[in-house]
Amino acid sequence: MTRINASLSGEFLLGGEISVHRLGFGAMRLTGPGVWGEPEDREEALRVLRRLPEIGVNFIDTADSYGPFVSEDLIAEALAPYRGLTIATKGGLVRPGRTEGQWPQVGDPNYLGQAVRLSLRRLKVERIDLWQLHRIDPKLPAEGQFETIRSFIDQGFIRYAGLSQVSVAEIEAARKIFPVATVQNRYNLTDRADEDVLEYCEANGIGFMPWFPLAAGELAKPGGIVDSIARKHGATPGQIALAWLLRRSPVMLPIPGTSRVSHLEENVAAAAITLSDEEFDQLDAASRSL
Ligand SMILES: NC(=O)c1ccc[n+]([C@@H]2O[C@H](COP(=O)([O-])OP(=O)(O)OC[C@H]3O[C@@H](n4cnc5c(N)ncnc54)[C@H](OP(=O)(O)O)[C@@H]3O)[C@@H](O)[C@H]2O)c1
Repeated sequence: MTRINASLSGEFLLGGEISVHRLGFGAMRLTGPGVWGEPEDREEALRVLRRLPEIGVNFIDTADSYGPFVSEDLIAEALAPYRGLTIATKGGLVRPGRTEGQWPQVGDPNYLGQAVRLSLRRLKVERIDLWQLHRIDPKLPAEGQFETIRSFIDQGFIRYAGLSQVSVAEIEAARKIFPVATVQNRYNLTDRADEDVLEYCEANGIGFMPWFPLAAGELAKPGGIVDSIARKHGATPGQIALAWLLRRSPVMLPIPGTSRVSHLEENVAAAAITLSDEEFDQLDAASRSL
């Protein structure tokens, strides 16, 4: 086995059933600038996707709003019919343009019903392995949105469901209506605001997908703790950030994203890095003190 292999990150059972290697891939960066339109280098985007199974990445995260639709279409073009791959997508946000920060939530059941059916069509699958509500729409009762998700499972559109950017209270409310398989919240060495959500997920066997996983911020400055540990391992700060996440919890499923094969290989190589207890503790303490 090559040392660039996501299987070295270990295994997680989504919903207690679907086995994935913990280090996955986030497909948001395969779109054009501002997560809008076609990528600048379409052939490279397809090469990134086709490289995934060759280096053991068998868990891909996307969303209908990435592009919109571009990321799902590229995944299908490169990888359908997905032998041995688990594709997770999301719905519930729309992208009315390239403007930064414009991602309105739409939790209307008719809209979500159309979204899940169109993701099925674009991804060319009969059932989506994991469908996540991209955001709970605050304009509508959360319970109604959870009931819509329940109906997707009951109708066989999706196998498992997850949530994104949620609190422990919201996960608990959702679990009364459908089994929450995963939670996808922003979490990295520089942002541990959702530590309680991670702990809740770990205690309940829920996969935790930290987005923006590569961030190391000022800890990665020359002479900083991430930089000095990276030098010891002959690694990059981003690789140390990923190795720390993988070590932080057995339910951690990082989904670093990139539009380049070279960056993909560098990120997946992080699965082979084992931090010592002392290194883990130093990183943990430094990140908590930010
Ligand atoms: N649920 C949510 O609300 C939400 C929000 C944001 C993202 N996500 C998901 O999380 C995934 C990851 O999040 P993210 O894209 O924000 O953060 P990320 O994966 O931590 O960072 C991606 C950025 O880092 C660069 N990069 C990646 N690998 C690199 C490397 N080895 N060396 C140098 N630069 C590198 C990429 O540019 P290059 O293309 O040049 O490599 C890109 O600009 C997304 O793809 C998406 O699936 C979810």
